[in-house]
Amino acid sequence: MDGIIDLLKHGRKRKMSKRSRDPAINKLREVKAEAESLGIPETIINGLQAVDDLATAREDYCDSKTSTASEPMAALIKDTLEHPWQNVYEEGKTAWNITPRMMSGNLEGYVLKFLVSASKSKNVLEVGMLTGCAALGMAEVMPDDGKVVTCEIDPYLVDLARKLMDRSPHGKKVEILTGPAIESLNGLAKKNQKFDFIFIDADKPGYCDYFNICFSELLAPGGTIAMDNALFGGKPYMEDSPPNEGVTKFNNMIVTRKDIYYVLMPIRDGIMLIRRKEDMNGTV
Ligand SMILES: C[S@@+](CC[C@H](N)C(=O)[O-])C[C@H]1O[C@@H](n2cnc3c(N)ncnc32)[C@H](O)[C@@H]1O
Repeated sequence: MDGIIDLLKHGRKRKMSKRSRDPAINKLREVKAEAESLGIPETIINGLQAVDDLATAREDYCDSKTSTASEPMAALIKDTLEHPWQNVYEEGKTAWNITPRMMSGNLEGYVLKFLVSASKSKNVLEVGMLTGCAALGMAEVMPDDGKVVTCEIDPYLVDLARKLMDRSPHGKKVEILTGPAIESLNGLAKKNQKFDFIFIDADKPGYCDYFNICFSELLAPGGTIAMDNALFGGKPYMEDSPPNEGVTKFNNMIVTRKDIYYVLMPIRDGIMLIRRKEDMNGTV
């Protein structure tokens, strides 16, 4: 037992085939593999496996208790999962080797839908589109005159997403701005455009800049910003995480601000919601 406790405390890194977003589960898998190699009694190994199974069951249960996707959305998700990403990357068609894990998916999609519909948002902005899962999902719950503006740097994804989204009658509500997000955001600010709901989900080193321009220039009165990947696979709360990088830097910056309320929801890879205090009857 001491050995197990020691492994739990100091378990060494081991490459596993299936990585979880939750570093606690990855650590558990490392410990289990280590325990197996040390010939630890089977009851302990089975116990470790049962913990892993429970964590997976929890995720599956949440999925099963979330509304199902519309037909066009289910097709978009399926086509994104099955797309030959490795091939198109090797052929030089995409800027980077895309993994469908980057896609928000049905559960997170419904979280966004609830936020957009509960706030009666008519103008939504997304930073980082991929194949349009979140953009189309939000468009689905918006009125006919509602609009989602989404920013994407990769022209291959822009073409693909356009095709996938246009199979839905709601695809017409989505406008794609192609190019580096910071340029698109500056362009929107110059035109004085305002958005009721902003979903930021692009490159993580850009998070602070995206937030700053969205918050100061683009967020309509009463609006909400949602930042995806606020947990970033556990990096921000790991002891060896550099405080001035990517999502960690962004999270650390947010908590210094006195003019906002924020909440980090542990949904998938973490979604941080941010609103002006004055919009929540708070004093600045
Ligand atoms: C996590 S994915 C977005 C997932 C998407 N929001 C969804 O719901 O499925 C991040 C996307 O941001 C794009 N991206 C990365 N850097 C960017 C930049 N500087 N400007 C605009 N888009 C960028 C990537 O090409 C990728 O498609």
